[in-house]
Amino acid sequence: MSKLAPPPDRRRNHHHLQHRHFLLHLLLILFTTTANATHKFKEAPQFYNSQNCPSIDRSNDHHVMCSQAAVHVAMTLDTAYLRGSMAAIFSVLQHSSCPQNILFHFIASSKKKTDFHLRDTISHSFPYLNFQIYPFQNDPVSGLISTSIRSALDCPLNYARNYLANLLPPCVKKAVYLDSDLVVVDDIAKLAATPLGDNAVLAAPEYCNANFTSYFTPSFWSNPTLSMTFTGRNACYFNTGVMVIDLQRWREGDYTRKITEWMELQKRMRIYELGSLPPFLLVFAGNIAPVDHRWNQHGLGGDNYRGLCRDLHPGPVSLLHWSGKGKPWVRLDSNRPCPLDALWSPYDLLQTPFSLDS
Ligand SMILES: *[C@@H]1O[C@H](CO)[C@@H](O)[C@H](O)[C@H]1NC(C)=O
Repeated sequence: MSKLAPPPDRRRNHHHLQHRHFLLHLLLILFTTTANATHKFKEAPQFYNSQNCPSIDRSNDHHVMCSQAAVHVAMTLDTAYLRGSMAAIFSVLQHSSCPQNILFHFIASSKKKTDFHLRDTISHSFPYLNFQIYPFQNDPVSGLISTSIRSALDCPLNYARNYLANLLPPCVKKAVYLDSDLVVVDDIAKLAATPLGDNAVLAAPEYCNANFTSYFTPSFWSNPTLSMTFTGRNACYFNTGVMVIDLQRWREGDYTRKITEWMELQKRMRIYELGSLPPFLLVFAGNIAPVDHRWNQHGLGGDNYRGLCRDLHPGPVSLLHWSGKGKPWVRLDSNRPCPLDALWSPYDLLQTPFSLDS
């Protein structure tokens, strides 16, 4: 009986409590939505150089940008992958012994409103970061993109890595390009210092056991003029999500044009199925400087179709890369994480909306 109808005094009390609870919730919702609108991400701690870091003349921005002591990191920045980018930046800073010498170059789709939002987000979470945002014109690239097996690969910004040499100031001679779905767990300066030898334009981990043939279509291989591209080259697969690029050599060799030419051919006849990767293989495979595999433990997102869970490759780890369809933040949000997604979470800067609720 009492279960169904509590005595009048208790009921009133209960109502009163409910009312208070409701107000609290309303306040909380109001607070979090306004907080979300401005600062969706937490502020990262400040990171300081250790004692032995080469010093940078910080008297003006130009000196900083063109300093020989700076480590240049180039990434794309967009709303869809922002959470991934924030984690990547955080991880780079956290494991660097000279974090104040790192200069970030962000390539962002050029839309005024989003540009302001992205800049604001970066500045809020990393108030001490040396960074520059470069607007990227989608239109010229859009016309060059042919659809691939995964629509996320067809976004123009995915091709921004082709244009780094032109986008970054001429005084920047070398840069590390990083995708947004990765975390670095080692000093990025070591990767940036990869020797490029006498001729290499880029350095990346090579995978000679991967079936290189499968990256191009039968119509490519059956055309002698095309398949000849790889004669005399020990061409191996490499992942374009982590690259050390000699921007000087890139500019001198006009490699943007070379990549673009393959993309134009792809529009006329289908020579590959993936997005921005195959043109890189066509131009560079077999002629790149090697990097230890620890710097790109890729494929953690699973394959391009289903995004199954993958394990690490044997050997040490300096960089974890969720390439493939599944992204750790999506899987964590949907409560279906892969075991290795737990290694991404410590770098997640997203504000948890109801952290005040407990
Ligand atoms: C490599 O891939 C091609 C095309 O997908 C296939 O025909 C060939 O059998 C594969 N080779 C090996 C060794 O798996």
